[in-house]
Amino acid sequence: MKIAVVGLGHIGLPLAVQYATRGHAVVGADINPRIVDAVNRGESPHLDEPALIEGVPRVVTAGDLRATTSTPEAVKGAEAVVVIVPVVVDAGRQIDFGQIDAATREIARDLRPGTLVLYETTLPVGTTRDRLGAMLAEGSGLKLDEGFFLAFSPERVLVGRIFLDLRRYPKIVGGTSEESGRRAMAFYRAVLDEGTEVRAVANAETAEMTKLAETTYRDVNIALANEYARYAARRGIDVLEVIGAANSQPFSNIHQPGVGVGGHCIPVYPHFLFNGDPDLRLPPLARAINEEMGAWTVALAEERVGSLRGEPVLVLGIAYRADVREDAFSSAFRLRDELKAGGARVYGHDPYFPDDHLRRMGFEPYDLAAPAEARVAILQAGHAAYGELDPRTIPGLELFIDGRNALERATFDTAGVAYVGIGR
Ligand SMILES: NC(=O)c1ccc[n+]([C@@H]2O[C@H](COP(=O)([O-])OP(=O)(O)OC[C@H]3O[C@@H](n4cnc5c(N)ncnc54)[C@H](O)[C@@H]3O)[C@@H](O)[C@H]2O)c1
Repeated sequence: MKIAVVGLGHIGLPLAVQYATRGHAVVGADINPRIVDAVNRGESPHLDEPALIEGVPRVVTAGDLRATTSTPEAVKGAEAVVVIVPVVVDAGRQIDFGQIDAATREIARDLRPGTLVLYETTLPVGTTRDRLGAMLAEGSGLKLDEGFFLAFSPERVLVGRIFLDLRRYPKIVGGTSEESGRRAMAFYRAVLDEGTEVRAVANAETAEMTKLAETTYRDVNIALANEYARYAARRGIDVLEVIGAANSQPFSNIHQPGVGVGGHCIPVYPHFLFNGDPDLRLPPLARAINEEMGAWTVALAEERVGSLRGEPVLVLGIAYRADVREDAFSSAFRLRDELKAGGARVYGHDPYFPDDHLRRMGFEPYDLAAPAEARVAILQAGHAAYGELDPRTIPGLELFIDGRNALERATFDTAGVAYVGIGR
């Protein structure tokens, strides 16, 4: 097959390599010339996916993958077009379709009759058909499900292990018509590894909602874990012991509580579901509970050591989760704001980010090798390196809040530093 992949980002490039590895002729399009040039040189522009470093040169040298900055050029010769260009939210969590709209208009320009277009970017329900399908039809003059075929298939992989996830998670596929769905199923069977389950759902809307349902489930589950943690803290119970014991019953799958929920997905996609739909009550409440965890944690610190006005407080880990160099929607920022509102002097440390990045993000960089005084330290991201932390090396440290319940209490007991986890 001749395939165009639009968007050669952290997800798009691995998809292009996967399809090329299966022997298809792939052209990738991206508006970023740095990415396009790197791919054409046979180098991976993304270093966080080990298999790409070997995969890109292999498929480029074999002549099965090339890249271009021109989406119409990539689409012109293609039988199938896979779109994986982000849809983002702004600071007020309003959805911004700018990038995917622009990509769609470019695809429509030279869309040939019979082409199959597949969207994999997480989308609000109805977007594939009503927004993007309509734009493709208008821009190409072709009729949806007759002149061109359209489907949605959510991307469920995790960066760092994309090729493994592509094999092990069922590929969920929903077309805008029976024929579109059938063609999309055939496409995924031809491009994924043999043995990968490809599962048809009723339509594009069902496939769109599937991705929002799985991410929102996790947000709601974490909110429940956070409420359990707060309750356990009031009752002097260790919530981790409760969760471990409760989850020994197979119907219970309570997630872990923490100082907040960050990243591109979990704090964002629930908004794709409930923005503009007041009948959905639980997801927005869960969002609010998870967003409050920063304020709850700062209140916990104040309860233990008194007012933080003028006091040095250290936030360990700015990344949104352990051992990633990514701080999108990180709960570190919520903590920073709450600490600053209480008058604290906020230090930040993260081995994955340089000092100037920490400064730009509103933290005073903290050097663990030449530590300044900090009365309170809060573990925000449980990077493996923090397992080695010796609390005695932080001058003046009175209280350590383990926002990820990741460290051993005994280390702090030995050092004479008070230790509190989230719900323990
Ligand atoms: N990153 C993840 O962990 C993950 C996991 C599952 C699903 N997803 C889905 O994948 C989508 C893409 O994620 P990503 O991590 O690859 O993003 P990314 O930011 O790494 O890559 C997006 C790419 O699209 C390109 N682009 C933007 N506008 C374009 C246009 N008009 N035409 C062509 N290219 C354009 C950008 O230059 C960039 O290279 C997300 O929005 C999400 O829906 C991501």
